[in-house]
Amino acid sequence: MSFAVNLSSLPLRSPEITTGGYNFPKSVISSTRKRPMLSFATSNSTEEPPTTTPEIELEFIGPKAGEDGKYPVDRVSAASGEKVLRTIMADNKLELYGTYGKVMNCGGGGSCGTCIVEVVEGNELLNERTNTELKYLKKKPESWRLACQTIVGNKENSGKVVIQRLPQWKK
Ligand code: FES
Repeated sequence: MSFAVNLSSLPLRSPEITTGGYNFPKSVISSTRKRPMLSFATSNSTEEPPTTTPEIELEFIGPKAGEDGKYPVDRVSAASGEKVLRTIMADNKLELYGTYGKVMNCGGGGSCGTCIVEVVEGNELLNERTNTELKYLKKKPESWRLACQTIVGNKENSGKVVIQRLPQWKK
C-alpha cells in the first residue's frame, strides 16, 4: 500500500544556504521553489489476520410438548472446543437434570450419571464417549451422553448440534 501527502498548503521557506560570507550572484544561490511531495509506503504483510474461534450452533429440544403439541426448542451458540455441554446449558439456564439429579448431581465431576442428554444431530462435532460415560451409559442408547463429559467442538470445527434434554423422560 502507498499513499502521498501533498504539502502544497504548507508555507514554503527557502532553504538556508551558507555562503561563508561570500556574496554569490543571486542566480547562483537561488533555489527552485518546487512544491515538495512526500510519499510513504506501508505494508500489511507483518500484520496477523484477526483470529476467530469457530462456533457451534446448538439446539436443545425440551422434554415435554407444549399445549400446541410441539416440543420447545432453545437455540444457543458456543465457541468450538471451549466448554462441556453441562456448562453451556448452565450458562444459558437450560434445565439438565430430572428430579433426582437436581438434588443429587455431582456438580459435573463424572460420578453421578444423572446429566444425561441425547445427541440427535451433530455427534461428529463432539468428543468420543469417555470411560465415565461407558460406565454409566453401558445399557443406554448409543446416542446418549453425559453432559459433563461432552466437549462441544474441538476448536477447529463448526456446525450444528441438536440435543434432546432429559431423553429418559421420553422413552
Ligand atoms: S454431573 Fe455427575 S456425572 Fe455429570
